[in-house]
Order: sequence, then structure tokens, then C-alpha cells
Amino acid sequence: MDENKISELLTTSEFGRNLLLIDETDSTNAEALRLIKKGPVKNGTTIIAEKQTAGKGRFGRAWLSDGGLCMTVIIKYAGNPPPLATLSAGVAVAEGLSTAVGREFFVKYPNDVYTAKTGGRKIGGILAQSAKGHLIIGIGVNVSQESFPAELLEKAESLKTLGMTISKEAVAGHILNSLERNMELADAGNIGLIRGKWLKLNCTIGERVSIRDVSPPVEGTAAGLDEDGALVVETANGPVRVRAGEITIEG
Ligand code: BTN
Repeated sequence: MDENKISELLTTSEFGRNLLLIDETDSTNAEALRLIKKGPVKNGTTIIAEKQTAGKGRFGRAWLSDGGLCMTVIIKYAGNPPPLATLSAGVAVAEGLSTAVGREFFVKYPNDVYTAKTGGRKIGGILAQSAKGHLIIGIGVNVSQESFPAELLEKAESLKTLGMTISKEAVAGHILNSLERNMELADAGNIGLIRGKWLKLNCTIGERVSIRDVSPPVEGTAAGLDEDGALVVETANGPVRVRAGEITIEG
């Protein structure tokens, strides 16, 4: 990866300005956690790895990252991160990707990035973690994978499989610009604006969904997003607010 190719795209004041490019690591999120433990870190410090040997997804899953962008941004907070911060990050990745390749992308609750409003496939994901006054936003985007393992074939897409050839540097630069802008909106308390952007880009509301890994499991129609960023699911027993668990669109 070429640091200059990223820097020349940046319009940010902090995100991506302290850029750590690594050939190989276990996980850029783990790398960020180690960095924070060592001492003070600049806001917006960004770690990008060419290769991850133990990339992590949500729910303790593995994240296959060969050919993809593996990037973690460290955001400092004096108190707690603002509401909707992690939803805002999903919006930022969708918007950044759209700017990079000139086509729309969408978000599935909470912050998976999808290729279409209905029937789309996952092209990016976010693993947000917090540690000692820091929010760690780990972003994985499928960029140049030419194919996926059998179990992901129907579910995953890359920019390459969509027919787009673009460098990881360009994808990173555009996402960093959009991430800083959107996190500034969240920090300034523009919850309504973020909620509105998320609602516009989302591919979850209106769909039949199930959340099987919460107790009791939830089944119904995704009906809205509340002020705190919870997904409101209309079930046979009335509305249920969901914040945890894997949302499956039953389609
Ligand atoms: C998901 O959708 O399950 C989240 C995937 C997040 C993957 C990224 S790749 C960069 C960063 N490092 C990790 O180990 N995970 C995140």
C-alpha cells in the first residue's frame, strides 16, 4: 500500500493523518487496542494492514480479509461516544464507497454495508469496540476478491465481483473523509440528521426479520429506528426494541 495515494485524497483534519501501514498483523482492531494500552494515541489514528491473520467480525466470527481493505480508526472521547456513533460509521462507509466508485451502497442494521436496497449482498462490515476513552472502528471492505468460499458465495460481494477495479488506497481515503464528517455530525449532537441518513440508506426497515441469538428470539417486521439507535421490530406481541443480536432478513 502506498501512503501517499491515501494522503493525497484526504480532506480530513485528523482522521488518517497519523497513518500506520502494516504488512501483516493478526487484526487491526487488536493492533489498535495494543496501541492504546501503550500510551496516548492521536485522535483519528488509522491502522491499515495489507494482510490480517486473525481478522475479527461481529459475534466472535472470523473475517476473511485477503484482497480486502482492513482498516481501524481510533477515535478519542472525553466521555461516552454519542448515541448513534456506530450507525454513523456504517453510513460513512456506505457514503465513502459511493463516492469512491460512483454507485450507491446501503446499510443493514446496524452497520453492515450492502450492495442493494433489496436482495443485496454484504460488501463491508464494521467491528466497533471501546477501550478507555476510545472508540475503535474496525472497517472491512471487500475490494479485490475474485470469489468467495462456498458458504459465502450467495451472501458476499466485492467491488471486483461487481465489476469495479479500484485501489484499496482510494477506498480508504474516501471512507476516512466520510467517516470524519459523519462522526463530527454525531459529536455535535445531530442525531436527527444521522438517523435520517441511516433511514434513507437502510435495507432493513419494512423487511421480515428474525433475531435468533437473543432470548427470547424476536420475529417480526422491522418497523423503525428509535432515537437511541435501537431497531424497532413489530412482532405478534407488539413492538420490541432490538440492539443486540444478528438480524436476519427473511426476505
Ligand atoms: C462484521 O461485519 O462482522 C465486521 C467485520 C469487521 C472486519 C474489520 S477488518 C479491519 C478490522 N480488523 C478486524 O479484525 N476486524 C475489522
